[in-house]
Amino acid sequence: MSPDTSMIVPATPADIDAIMACERRPGYEVTVGRWDREQHLAGLADPTHRYFVARQPDGTIAGFVMLQDVAIEADSILVRRIAVGEQRRGYGRQLLGHALHVIFDEFDARSARLGVRAYNANGIALYSSLGMREESRREEQGHGSEAVTVITMTMSAESYRQSRRANP
Ligand SMILES: CC(C)(COP(=O)(O)OP(=O)(O)OC[C@H]1O[C@@H](n2cnc3c(N)ncnc32)[C@H](O)[C@@H]1OP(=O)(O)O)[C@@H](O)C(=O)NCCC(=O)NCCS
Repeated sequence: MSPDTSMIVPATPADIDAIMACERRPGYEVTVGRWDREQHLAGLADPTHRYFVARQPDGTIAGFVMLQDVAIEADSILVRRIAVGEQRRGYGRQLLGHALHVIFDEFDARSARLGVRAYNANGIALYSSLGMREESRREEQGHGSEAVTVITMTMSAESYRQSRRANP
């Protein structure tokens, strides 16, 4: 699989199995949330959500990204979830790049935001590499009884446009 050959397209209900398999990959339970089929079906039907998948030429799904709080000229759109099947192949960059394009160029939002656990070095590296920056930290209940630190990372429309001018 290569990101050169995958296309980022809106997800359909037929993609839910692949999306659920992606968010349930071994080890992902400590960094990314999971929904059941009914939750994903409701999300796909919700006008404030957007789902995109990286579709390979053979139809397989290399990863997905989900947005929430979607609205024209939204104050802030949330990148709720992103996960790829095979890591470090460029799919995360491709998916997040498309999500930011939709957030700022299609919906003209003022900012993009997401929450990432402080120990999720891969996620933080991806978000930072696309220009997202830490805004705040909070403690949340983790998988077990221990608290985990969740970092809110954001990007403003202005910094998105500056980075697009610098890297057209
Ligand atoms: C986080 C995640 C989506 C990143 O996707 P990915 O396809 O592996 O990332 P990419 O290959 O597109 O990498 C993009 C950039 O992110 C950074 N990066 C990603 N993984 C990294 C790692 N393990 N170490 C260092 N940098 C990393 C690099 O800057 C990389 O650019 P480069 O390859 O040109 O150096 C993926 O690791 C994943 O699905 N993780 C499990 C689910 C999860 O944690 N989701 C996020 C919840 S907040």
